[in-house]
Amino acid sequence: MTMPTIKHYLQFTDFNASQYAYLFDRASFIKKKFKAYEKHQPLVDRTLAMIFEKASTRTRVSFEAGMYQLGGSVVHLTTGDSQLGRAEPIEDSARVISRMVDLVMIRTFEQSKIECFAAHSRVPVINGLTNEFHPCQILADLFTFIEQRGSIQGKTVAWVGDGNNMANTWLQAAKLLDFKVNVSTPSGYEIDEKIALSPEDISADHYQVYSNPMDACRGADLVTTDVWTSMGFEAENEVRKQAFAAWRVTPQMMAVAKTNALFMHCLPAHRGEEVDAEVIDGPQSVVWDEAENRMHVQKALMEYLLIGRQD
Ligand code: CP
Ligand code: NVA
Repeated sequence: MTMPTIKHYLQFTDFNASQYAYLFDRASFIKKKFKAYEKHQPLVDRTLAMIFEKASTRTRVSFEAGMYQLGGSVVHLTTGDSQLGRAEPIEDSARVISRMVDLVMIRTFEQSKIECFAAHSRVPVINGLTNEFHPCQILADLFTFIEQRGSIQGKTVAWVGDGNNMANTWLQAAKLLDFKVNVSTPSGYEIDEKIALSPEDISADHYQVYSNPMDACRGADLVTTDVWTSMGFEAENEVRKQAFAAWRVTPQMMAVAKTNALFMHCLPAHRGEEVDAEVIDGPQSVVWDEAENRMHVQKALMEYLLIGRQD
């Protein structure tokens, strides 16, 4: 007997544009019900395992609260309090955990680890952040943009800072949903485009590199950044502080973007490093909606992975 194909969400390219259109509509429906205190419990008796090999605030709370709101329950595992930290093979962990739960969310280091887990899992696996990608965050960021400004197609996003997991995922999203990312990183911290896209998918319509962050922000509809030092790279923190000094999002950068440009940051943020307080705490910033929307989009995602389209 052949096993039914399992849908995983390991990187942004795992879904197509029409699946994203559905998820954004569904997240909006689910969010409205939440705001009206109406129950939405399609996942009664379903269990989500959340595996964290790195720290988290938003990802944990949004998945955990989201799954309870959907009627299900969660199991929380970390490297420190499970056999994962004692070198049980990923394949064995995947085989065992996926016999007992309906869905798995993993935050870990290399993308290859989550790919390996998914290959040996009987149930869908969601990427809650790897060194390479953070697709749930970009899902929330796009939903937030659409809520505030309508379709992102044809719009320009300015990425200022590290060529990291968030930047890679923006690149994938730009190609898939037909918008443009202007990227400016310090030298030595450039995006490795090959991680995100195959060479034939890299086009100037969706991706342009600028050496000066001010130029990347010019005319942008959304300016966004992230920490200078991602989890797992803490040993580079002091060197990075020197290299990234000019890659702080300032009011001057926001001033050359469109007058109605938004500012986003996946958080946690360091005011005075990657962003000035006037920007993140200013009128163009939508970071709190962005954080809240993690929960709404992930509820739509979990529902979709477990019971498919509901329209
Ligand atoms: N943005 C985000 O993923 O936050 P946490 O690291 O707190 O989960
Ligand atoms: N790029 C950051 C994102 C944190 C949510 C990191 O990987 O640490």
